[in-house]
Amino acid sequence: MPEPVSATVSLQQLTDQLEQLEARAGQQIAAAASAAELEELRVGLLGKKGQLSAVLGAMGKLPGDERPLVGQRANVLKEQVQGLLSERLAAVKGAAMAERIAAETLDVTMPATFTPAGHRHPLISTIEEITDIFGGLGYRVEEGPEIESDHYNFTALNIPPHHPARDMQDTFYLSEHELLRTHTSPVQIRHLEKNPPPVRIVAPGRVYRRDAVDATHSPVFHQVEVLAIDEGLDFSHLRGTVTTFLQQFFGDLPVRFRASYFPFTEPSAEVDVQWRGRWLEVMGCGMVDPAVLEGLGIDPERYSGFAAGLGVERFCMVRHGIDDIRRLFTSDLRFLEQF
Ligand code: DAH
Repeated sequence: MPEPVSATVSLQQLTDQLEQLEARAGQQIAAAASAAELEELRVGLLGKKGQLSAVLGAMGKLPGDERPLVGQRANVLKEQVQGLLSERLAAVKGAAMAERIAAETLDVTMPATFTPAGHRHPLISTIEEITDIFGGLGYRVEEGPEIESDHYNFTALNIPPHHPARDMQDTFYLSEHELLRTHTSPVQIRHLEKNPPPVRIVAPGRVYRRDAVDATHSPVFHQVEVLAIDEGLDFSHLRGTVTTFLQQFFGDLPVRFRASYFPFTEPSAEVDVQWRGRWLEVMGCGMVDPAVLEGLGIDPERYSGFAAGLGVERFCMVRHGIDDIRRLFTSDLRFLEQF
C-alpha cells in the first residue's frame, strides 16, 4: 500500500514510492496465476483509486518544477506495468488453454469397448432355413401348444387309448389327459379343424419325450411338421416335395425312402440321408390316413394329402458337422460362437 500521504512530500519520497511500486508490481504480476488475479492487480496498481493514482495525487504538493520529473517517471512506470500485465495475461491464458487441450485430448488409438452382438442359435437358424424352403414351395407357417391334450397328441391322430403306438413315444404326462406333446403332428389336427382344404403348412416347435440323454437323444428336441391336403395328391407328390426340399437343404447328399409305419399315415416311410458314410434318418412321412381325415369331417374320397415330421436336430447336426446332440443344449459359448 502507498504510504499515507503526509501534508508535505518531497521529490525523493515520491521517487522512492514509484521505485517500490515498480518492484512490487513486477513480483506480484509474475506470481499471478489467473486472468482474474491479474485484473485485480491492475485495478490495485493503475485504477482510479490505485497506488499509482495515489502517487500522482501527492505530486500536486511538490513545487511546480519538480512535478514533471515525477509525472514522467509515473508515465513510464504505468506503461511498464501495463506491458507486464498483458504479457502475463497472455502467458496465463496460454497455459490454461494448453491444460484444457491436454485434458480434452482423445486418444483415437485407444481400443474401444467391444460388446459382441448376439446371433441366432444354430437350431433356430436351421428351423428358419427349413421353413424358408417350404415357404418357397407355398407352405404357411403354423404353430401349436407345447402342452397338449391326449386327444390332439394321440387320439385324433388315429392312436386310440391302449394302442401299442402310444408306447413308441414315452410321454411326459402332466395330468390324466394333459401332456407335453411328443411330436408336432397335433398341429395337423388343430389346423385342419379350423381351415378347410386345400391346406399347405409347416409347423415348427419343441417336442418332449422321456428319453435318456445320450449323443443322439435329448428329452427336448425340435420338429417341423409338414402337411399338404388337396384334391388328387398321391405318393409321388410326397416324394417329389421331400426330395426337392432335401436337395435344397443338403445339396446332393444321397437320399432313400424306407417303408415304415405310423398310425396317422398309410403308406408310411422314413427318409434317410447318407452322411459320413452312414444312413441317417431325418424324417418320417406318409400319406395322411383316411381315418384321420374322416375324424375331421373331411371327405377322404375327395381329399388326400401327405405329411412329414422332420427332426430339426438331425438337420442341424448334419449341416454343421456336429456329432453330439448335447452340444446344442448346453449353451457353451465356445461352441455357440462358431455359428
Ligand atoms: N410324428 C412322428 C414322430 O414324431 C413323425 C411323423 C411321421 C410325422 C410321419 C408325420 C408323418 O407327419 O407323416 O415320430
